[in-house]
Amino acid sequence: MSAAETHAMDERRQLRVVTLGHVDHGKSTLIGRLFHDLGMLPEGRLEEIQAVSERRGMPFEWAFLTDAMKSERDQGVTIDAAQIWLRAPGLDLAFIDAPGHREFLRNMLTGAAQADAALVLVDAKEGVRAQTRTHAFLLSMLGVSQIVVLVNKVDLIAFDGDRFAAVKADVDAVFGGLGLTATATIPVVARDGDNLIQGSDRTPWHDGSTLLDVLRGFAPAAPADDRPLRLPLQGVYKFDDRRLLAGRIAAGRLNVGDRLTFSPSGLSSTVASIEAWNAPTRTTAGAGESVAITLTDQIFVERGEVASHETDAPKLSDVLRGRIFWMNDAPLREGDAVELRVATAATPVRVQAIESVLDTDALIRKPGGKDAAVERFQAADVVFRADRRLAVDEHEDSPATGRFALARDGGIVGCGLASLEGYPDQRRAGVVKSQNLHATAHTVTAEQRADRAGHRGGVLWLTGLSGAGKSTVAIATEQALFARGWNVYVLDGDNVRRGLNRDLGFSPEDRAENIRRVGEVAALMARAGVLVLSAFISPYRADRERARAAQGDGFFEVFVDADLATCERRDPNGLYAKARAGEIKDFTGVDSVYEAPAAPDLRIATADETVDESAERLAAFAAAKFAL
Ligand code: ADX
Repeated sequence: MSAAETHAMDERRQLRVVTLGHVDHGKSTLIGRLFHDLGMLPEGRLEEIQAVSERRGMPFEWAFLTDAMKSERDQGVTIDAAQIWLRAPGLDLAFIDAPGHREFLRNMLTGAAQADAALVLVDAKEGVRAQTRTHAFLLSMLGVSQIVVLVNKVDLIAFDGDRFAAVKADVDAVFGGLGLTATATIPVVARDGDNLIQGSDRTPWHDGSTLLDVLRGFAPAAPADDRPLRLPLQGVYKFDDRRLLAGRIAAGRLNVGDRLTFSPSGLSSTVASIEAWNAPTRTTAGAGESVAITLTDQIFVERGEVASHETDAPKLSDVLRGRIFWMNDAPLREGDAVELRVATAATPVRVQAIESVLDTDALIRKPGGKDAAVERFQAADVVFRADRRLAVDEHEDSPATGRFALARDGGIVGCGLASLEGYPDQRRAGVVKSQNLHATAHTVTAEQRADRAGHRGGVLWLTGLSGAGKSTVAIATEQALFARGWNVYVLDGDNVRRGLNRDLGFSPEDRAENIRRVGEVAALMARAGVLVLSAFISPYRADRERARAAQGDGFFEVFVDADLATCERRDPNGLYAKARAGEIKDFTGVDSVYEAPAAPDLRIATADETVDESAERLAAFAAAKFAL
């Protein structure tokens, strides 16, 4: 579609409707008939197809017409492989074809198509079939809530209102089981046009609403132009002596003079110009447009970066949760490597956890776990981990950059919707504002400090659930080492949060900042020659890795391991009880994430040994690592 055409359509209401139905349930017939009833057929086209049908000795089929229309462009109607545009009074309708549920999911999840509403076709005679269940399941999974059900071919049930009501009741039951509600259920004969654009006198028991009435009542999605700017870079080209950053604006608006941030690099610059292919330069461009921009500064950004405004940037994370649909023969398992593609960025990731598996046939959700496998055509909630931070959005906030495809060996093997719920935006951790710094060199060396103390400074980083015993073990170990003459000190969450970190709460971002600061403090103290025992839940792997990086050598991760049930039974401060009662939100293990260490340097299972035993083991570990 040309830009001019897009623009002309912008001024009318547009609704994108995905049509779901078994091939035999009359999708093509429906579309063909709609073309006719909306007066969109070119002169003579109907007769032409009738004549061809007769010549071939075949009965006339509306579906032939749809096929014929698909292969050309008529009267400003745009048809491409995935969409058919229809002009109804006051409303432009894009019918998104979904040949099968696999294609549907792929199109929806990869962004090839995006639906504001769904039309589900059910054959009146056959009633609810496995496919109907699957379609309902997919809609619930994708969060499509404007749904019209067409019970087609009611002529085959002799326009029997009771039988229609029985089919409707079955559909409602399937939908209800998934938390869906059909906005309307309409008896139709797509071939004859009953209740599509015009009502029908053959269904006197029906309330008279037509498909068009229902579609008119649906709300189009928020225009992509009104969302935060997302411009995924497709490529960066040298042109004359300018660098052109090219891409398609996935959402939002871009203006000359706008300050842009690129993610994940974090580099910023200002838009100097917007160049358009074969058109004069402009000062503004909106969602859906392909642009090439130049910047006022020469910054090094490349394909895969996402440009946004500074104030509404995508999140940065090395971990994300996806509701995925898996399409490969080989099942997906914990630890598997795949490539995660968000817009134009491709990032290698591993499956950190399979949280639950959704069976698209049986329509049940099974708990995941270490041995869970996501089979072909199953959906699942999966946690992915990357080695670097990637730019991603919450799917609901920005569909275009909140969905991803999964690839292996260059082929697409799955797709999904991203969620960062429970995980921090790691953008802040990467922010560096201080400049013009010159490190002051110490003249007292680490060796001199160690010689005097008899041990080196370092960090034993205790992580675990609340109530696992971190503080208890740390304090007992501190006591034991102090008695042996060590410079040792416990940094404890409940203490540090009263002072240094009293401005932080328990949101994912605050926890990340809590650990960032403590990691830096621990490293400073270690440099002063102290053995630091840190006792913080520190639920995120990325934060613990940063703490390790702040210290360098002489950092050991100690997993104080006790399962949730044990911690909850101990509940030393009654916090689990409060969390379960809903009095404390975001409580680790209850409604907030805890990422257990994958390969801790030491594991202390507090359910299996006494505090003294744990402390002795930890003190021995410290001696082995830090004593001279
Ligand atoms: S962390 O997640 O940021 O590492 P930290 O170890 O500093 O947490 O603090 C945990 C302590 O705060 C717990 O031992 C508990 O006493 C208290 N606390 C209060 N609210 C919460 C919460 N929502 N989740 C976990 N701990 C909480």
